[in-house]
Amino acid sequence: MAILLPGGAGFIGSHTAVELLQAGKEIVIIDNFSNSKPEVLKSIKTITGKDFPFYEMDYLDQEALEKVFKENKIEAVMNFAGYKAVGESVKKPIEYYTNNISGALVLLDTMRKYGCKTFIFSSSATVYGDSETIPITEECKTGGTTNPYGTTKLFIEQILKDIYVSDPTWDICILRYFNPIGAHESGLIGEAPQGIPNNLMPYIVRVANGTLPQLSVFGNDYDTPDGTGVRDYIHVVDLAKGHVLALNKLEKEKEGLYTYNLGTGKGYSVLDMVKAFEEATGQKVPYQIAPRRPGDIATCYADPKKAKEELGWEAEKTLADMCRDSWHFIVSQATLTKENQ
Ligand code: UD1
Repeated sequence: MAILLPGGAGFIGSHTAVELLQAGKEIVIIDNFSNSKPEVLKSIKTITGKDFPFYEMDYLDQEALEKVFKENKIEAVMNFAGYKAVGESVKKPIEYYTNNISGALVLLDTMRKYGCKTFIFSSSATVYGDSETIPITEECKTGGTTNPYGTTKLFIEQILKDIYVSDPTWDICILRYFNPIGAHESGLIGEAPQGIPNNLMPYIVRVANGTLPQLSVFGNDYDTPDGTGVRDYIHVVDLAKGHVLALNKLEKEKEGLYTYNLGTGKGYSVLDMVKAFEEATGQKVPYQIAPRRPGDIATCYADPKKAKEELGWEAEKTLADMCRDSWHFIVSQATLTKENQ
């Protein structure tokens, strides 16, 4: 029996693939490499010493998906496929709704057809919009997303709830990620956005290595201790471990729909992040204060108590680990590229 990972070559998918293999699970990855590279599959094998079936395909291709279900005994699906660039989603809503929502529906329909009803969904803290309550618990109101990307997460959560109501034999877990950063300590897998990154940590590492001249800090007049935006940054390996524990929970409980925040419960400002990165790596990060970015909120961090109590999951890595591993990954990639030239 294997776990199917659509988007398993991506940032969070690849780290989860490693944790699943190391926990003794079998996996099958499908990916179309729209935002990832084939080398990632080799890196997963190098880190774990384990092999797994891989299919290069689009998860919207139901015929190809059915072939995967016919050729493998799939017991559960963790869906990491989907577009995730917030700014792009505003410009390309049709592409985002088609890829993320139709993709999820094709997947769920195929699962149903093959009698596989265990699903773990990568949701996001973005579903809380600008929460009135901080720290954010799973009971906080959802809605008020500011872009199509966020709205796809919200809609898919609703779809999952409706599916569960129609057939309570499904086992569904919605994981709401806060801000995943860091990389595997091996330096072999990490976040490799194409083009100029939008998110803070990938931007910081590219300023530190000289690819980009300086960081723009988007607003210093928020109602936060130093005026810059506060977020809950979580190491991607901690996040990946959360998926393994969520799967264990679904296997144990059988039949239910669960929702968990995956965050550390600690909020750090943009300037805290710059300082932590400089301290952890010894690299300078020049920055300037720039206007606020539209759609940004002041403060967002999790109350992660429910995941601790019900999954036995807790983020273990420190902010220094996150900074060091993000830096290590980009340095390792640069070395690899040079060696291959
Ligand atoms: C963003 C998305 C969120 C998504 C998440 C994925 C928006 C509005 N939200 O969250 O939906 O789930 O990424 O990880 O884009 N910052 C700078 N300079 C930069 C980049 C960021 O100052 O060059 C600041 C931002 O204003 C924010 C913080 O850093 O205060 C974190 O930004 P980012 O990494 O983009 O994440 P979010 O905006 O929290």
